[in-house]
Amino acid sequence: MSARAQSATPNFAAQHQPPQHVIEQIQKGVGHVRMLPEVAIKALQTTRDPNVNFKQFGGIVEKDVALTTRVLAMANSSLFAAGGSTASVAQGVSRLGFRQCKNIIISTCLASTMKSMVAREQVLHEALWNHSLTTASTAKHLADKLDLDLGGEEFTAGMIHDFGRLLLATAFPKSEGYRDRISFAELPNQRELEIETIGCCHCAAGAWFGMDQGLPQELLAVIKYHHTPEDSVYCRELVAVVALAGEIADLIQAEKTETFRKDKSVGMKALQKCGVNQAGERLESSFQWLLDSVEVSLQEMLDH
Ligand SMILES: [Fe+2]
Ligand SMILES: [Fe+2]
Repeated sequence: MSARAQSATPNFAAQHQPPQHVIEQIQKGVGHVRMLPEVAIKALQTTRDPNVNFKQFGGIVEKDVALTTRVLAMANSSLFAAGGSTASVAQGVSRLGFRQCKNIIISTCLASTMKSMVAREQVLHEALWNHSLTTASTAKHLADKLDLDLGGEEFTAGMIHDFGRLLLATAFPKSEGYRDRISFAELPNQRELEIETIGCCHCAAGAWFGMDQGLPQELLAVIKYHHTPEDSVYCRELVAVVALAGEIADLIQAEKTETFRKDKSVGMKALQKCGVNQAGERLESSFQWLLDSVEVSLQEMLDH
């Protein structure tokens, strides 16, 4: 069964709208920013269509110059260019596969969105970008290791899960919890602090913003519940694996991976509740492999 079909669709609109002053401040802070442009949302929808072919998908990518360049660069890279170089997007897409293409599209679009939102704060942009890439890459390797069939959505969801932090950091730069613009690390009591000082946590703010922009439900579920995965009634495996990936990514970035404890991890607890066979034991026995794989993937992504 696919992750999407695991349970009923929630009505995010009816849940936890941020207070009016938070909405106004976000609108003032980020203005007309689009989380993902139209073309990226279209590409996401298309990869779910079992009848779509490479040519049709290539046609969507070609509508955006930056995406076309990125897809062709990747298709012509040493990783995929076994058949010689190509200038055809459709051929590029067929070399990379839909899953890889979708990841390129989302990461390219999010990179430029994040950059435009914190144009004057290069350090902040880099810190959040690193966290997104590390979480996405960890989620992908975790899904592979635990044999979860999430269709590549774990990478996309890892990229976007903390978008709400960027929103709040932009809208409330002086608020406690957002003063450290260098590491931009999540504090242990981050959500409580946000609720106390801003009136809304980054999960609720991000989900509200994403819903307003037509993001698919599975991404909204991850944005909303990545700190409380057991509360999600939708796409529970996906939410749980991104929650776990986010926890491990925080430790990788803080260089404290030796402190990881599976019995303290909310993501692991949620995964076990989803019935993932021996998730804890399998992670424990391959933890070093996971860290090494993430490091290699990050290097590859930064090289391209
Ligand atoms: Fe978060
Ligand atoms: Fe995170």
